[in-house]
Amino acid sequence: MTNFNEIKGFAFDLDGVITDTAKFHAQAWQQVADKVGTNWTEDLADGLKGISRMDSLEMILKAGGHENDYSQAEKEKLAAEKNDNYVQLIKTLTPDDILPGMLDFIKSLQASGYKMSLASVSLNAPVILKSLGLTDAFEGIVNPASLKKGKPDPEIYVRAAEVMKLDPKQVIGVEDAAAGVTAINGANETSLGIGNSDVLHEADLIFPDTAAVTIEAIKEKMG
Ligand code: G6P
Ligand code: MG
Repeated sequence: MTNFNEIKGFAFDLDGVITDTAKFHAQAWQQVADKVGTNWTEDLADGLKGISRMDSLEMILKAGGHENDYSQAEKEKLAAEKNDNYVQLIKTLTPDDILPGMLDFIKSLQASGYKMSLASVSLNAPVILKSLGLTDAFEGIVNPASLKKGKPDPEIYVRAAEVMKLDPKQVIGVEDAAAGVTAINGANETSLGIGNSDVLHEADLIFPDTAAVTIEAIKEKMG
């Protein structure tokens, strides 16, 4: 594994790492699942984490065997409906919704001179960062609309290193989803997974929750 003193920057996923929008995504997608007749399960909800809007819809349709039942226009309408509901739900977000420990972690990275970029496939990420009061902490946000492929493809994490003008080897990617950890590893960055170690077993470093993530703890694990 890379030595910690080579690390110069952090690429953050947003949903499930900085704030818990996963519950809002799940709530909004469940309405779509009910509408198309796909049974909503925890496994399905987990598998959607980190997956782009249209890819998520495809997974929901497929899970119920409905992948051939909707035209492209109908799919776009379903995705737009989901987003309208989701946008209503995230209107309530404030800086108090930053996950435990994450504000301190981000501030300590800033104070120690690390660069930060955002590697979220969410088209709503700029609005969410603004609601959380975190926009200025980041060097930049990868524009998900410009990506050819979503996670687990490494593209977004390669771009997140470019935003910071760093070599991928100098970057730690921070994720809560298996698809995201795969993307970080594919980009040749160090992967830091937050959550269940069974789900995130591919990660170089695993932390049980956001509160456990500190510079000191990372240093200790990496050596
Ligand atoms: C994140 C979430 C996914 C979501 C995706 C797209 O990666 O983990 O659940 O589908 O962003 O979000 P958007 O806000 O563009 O629909
Ligand atoms: Mg996530």
